[in-house]
Amino acid sequence: MFVINCKNYEEISGDKIIKFVKTAEKISKKYKVKIAISPPQHLIGLVASSTIPIFAQHIDDSKIGSTTGFIIPELLKKSKVKGSLINHSEHRISSKEIERLILKLKELKMVSILCVKDVAEVKKYVKLNPDYIAIEPSELIGSGKAVSKEQPELISKAASIINNSKNKTKLLCGAGIVSGEDVAKAIELGSKGILVASGIIKAKDWNKIISEFAKALV
Ligand code: G3P
Repeated sequence: MFVINCKNYEEISGDKIIKFVKTAEKISKKYKVKIAISPPQHLIGLVASSTIPIFAQHIDDSKIGSTTGFIIPELLKKSKVKGSLINHSEHRISSKEIERLILKLKELKMVSILCVKDVAEVKKYVKLNPDYIAIEPSELIGSGKAVSKEQPELISKAASIINNSKNKTKLLCGAGIVSGEDVAKAIELGSKGILVASGIIKAKDWNKIISEFAKALV
């Protein structure tokens, strides 16, 4: 799977998110590659009924009903959102919240993608059995220097911890990935997909770059 985190980039603001998601839908169908998108939180309802999975960028451990300004999975599910990133390095939360949110997504049959910064966190959180663990060294985020080339051992170590755990968690990796070659290298090292943002969102031709990434995953 390849997950595109749109963050709060201006390039996908307003109606532009619709065009972006439609481009990804077409490519996902053409190459039979699973592409998921995390739009900015306030735009999620605009694209949640797409044919490709839409994930939140963050969820809160807050209750249904009289709570204000929180994003909660129960309501996201009712809007057809399929899951969420948890603990992205730009939105870290406590381990207690991580535990509760993974559990909540499981109960709701929604997909959890837990972001971690290093191998120690892979070891710590694999026990919670999230659907995906995405390893991203924060210093490479947005740098254009791919984790798969700069820190290959990080991916192979994370892959071996997850494989040895024998649970169903799959590994994703991200940070600085900007080309099909970076994607292919990540897969070669044991990642089952990637988590990407600027390399796609800020590219001039979305169709071209998403296709390049998709082909590297086929
Ligand atoms: O969530 C994806 C992310 O943090 C990686 O960002 O811009 O380096 O692809 P980027």
